[in-house]
Amino acid sequence: MTGRPTRLAVLISGRGSNLDAILRACAAGTLPAQVVQVISNRPHAGGLELAAAAGVPTAVIDHRRFPDRSGFEQALQAQLDAVPCDLVVLAGFMRVLTADFAARHRGRLLNIHPSLLPDFPGLHTHERALAAGVAEHGASVHFVTAAVDGGPLIAQIRVPVQAGDTPDTLAARVLAAEHRLYPTVLGWYAQGRLALVGERVLLDGLWLAAPVQFAAAGERDD
Ligand code: GRF
Repeated sequence: MTGRPTRLAVLISGRGSNLDAILRACAAGTLPAQVVQVISNRPHAGGLELAAAAGVPTAVIDHRRFPDRSGFEQALQAQLDAVPCDLVVLAGFMRVLTADFAARHRGRLLNIHPSLLPDFPGLHTHERALAAGVAEHGASVHFVTAAVDGGPLIAQIRVPVQAGDTPDTLAARVLAAEHRLYPTVLGWYAQGRLALVGERVLLDGLWLAAPVQFAAAGERDD
């Protein structure tokens, strides 16, 4: 650790409730980090207003202005280069990143996904979990590699499915759980406790054999 807060660049596409949880944790001092910029690929993402209200610089890199993914990523990279950061945090960022981008940021790029990976990668996870009849759903934080929603897992929070759940009710409980999980994992990184080494995750000097498990209603339960 350097003594200064870990600098986070947060990438969003939408409402930004995970960004909000991260900003609150930074402000409360429970997460020893600072959000140095928020970048959205959508000009009207609600999270941009949250960032601005918190005094965080924002930028829009609208993917529709670029003919291809690589042009978009060059602009994204230029914006990241303009404001030095230690970690790039995907928080509801809905663009698939290329293998080149993932490789360039390897070990310094995290994502949160609303399922217990490797179950339900991709979109519509809550609908698919209900259709599959699972007893438990949840969210995962992982290092980003070239495999979409497939990078090494760090931690998961488990949310019981309740009788009568709809995709919306389940999504709301998973989202509340995400707001606990992401700042917690970012805190590990900010404290120098978490690293990606090769394909393996090192936490507190130990190789993770499986992601750290949290229960939505309680504390770390592994
Ligand atoms: C979250 O469910 C996150 O896991 C997924 O996209 C959603 C973003 O929500 N990747 P928000 O913009 O943080 O409110």
